[in-house]
Amino acid sequence: MKRDKSIAWHRIDTASLHLKEWKVAVVGGTGGLGRAISRVLASRGASVTVVGQTFRDSGVPGIEFIQADLSLMREAERVAKALPAEKLDLVVFTTGIFAAPKRQETAEGIERDMAVSYLSRLVILREIAPRLGKDRPAALMKPRVFIMGFPGTGQAGTLDDLNAEKSYVAMPVHMNTVAGNEMLVLDAAKRYSSATFFGLNPGLIKTNIRDNFFGKDTLKSRIMETIIGLMTPSPETYAERLAPLLVSPDLEAYSGAMFNQTGFAVLPTPRLTDSSYVSAFLAASEALVARANVRVS
Ligand SMILES: NC(=O)c1ccc[n+]([C@@H]2O[C@H](COP(=O)([O-])OP(=O)(O)OC[C@H]3O[C@@H](n4cnc5c(N)ncnc54)[C@H](OP(=O)(O)O)[C@@H]3O)[C@@H](O)[C@H]2O)c1
Repeated sequence: MKRDKSIAWHRIDTASLHLKEWKVAVVGGTGGLGRAISRVLASRGASVTVVGQTFRDSGVPGIEFIQADLSLMREAERVAKALPAEKLDLVVFTTGIFAAPKRQETAEGIERDMAVSYLSRLVILREIAPRLGKDRPAALMKPRVFIMGFPGTGQAGTLDDLNAEKSYVAMPVHMNTVAGNEMLVLDAAKRYSSATFFGLNPGLIKTNIRDNFFGKDTLKSRIMETIIGLMTPSPETYAERLAPLLVSPDLEAYSGAMFNQTGFAVLPTPRLTDSSYVSAFLAASEALVARANVRVS
């Protein structure tokens, strides 16, 4: 990843954030990094709606829950319509899994990692983006969306077999989700001027994200996650560090920017600055979503 030194923001302490007026949705806020971010924002006064399968923060002031299985495009569409987008100041997408060693397919016929980690976000983003923040009379900033993935790492994906039907290898399939998420940021920054869009690259952090790849609670998984845990920040430390970035007024002019684990801006993947390639990849993604009878506009 290469730093983008043209983008800077003023860092402040998370403890000095006053977020009482902030209305936030964290899609994937029930676990891992999304959960840590939700808890930090709520602790500073924000009202946070988390979307996921299993709610782990009942009783935590400021956190509400929408349950959904986002491997299904119909569910993503339902959640998007249920979200109070007009009132939201901030949306963070952290939903994700890792491609399994053997191809898994959802009931809608879509490869599971693509469905959960990328296409559900495409469906939700396109439905809510035009409505975002329209009903916030006193807002000082545009509504903003952060899409977490692995942007800026040179992954451009391959668009000829997005559903991995011709061949299936876990890593390239996951890299298609990585590329797709970076493209969502770059494309949305051009498509919608009424909101701002940013990418987040958390780097390696110990969570459940690799369960599907290494096998949940296997020895391999425990060894790998212990090593990652020893060498990297905890989800809580990452969230504490990132919270001021998420609400910083300094980002207003930088829609399309990506940020690394420590909150420094990084340059996008060079291939993804080619908007005709991005359009083709997104068109293929929309066609895959259409198999579930969900239309992305
Ligand atoms: N951790 C890392 O080292 C790392 C590295 C690079 C990028 N990232 C990116 O960071 C983001 C967050 O990952 P993480 O590490 O926080 O992963 P995580 O701990 O596994 O959390 C993933 C979140 O996605 C939700 N989710 C998974 N399947 C779902 C489904 N079918 N329907 C609805 N929600 C579902 C989970 O909710 P439930 O638990 O309720 O199912 C959870 O809230 C992902 O985009 C990931 O690619 C992480």
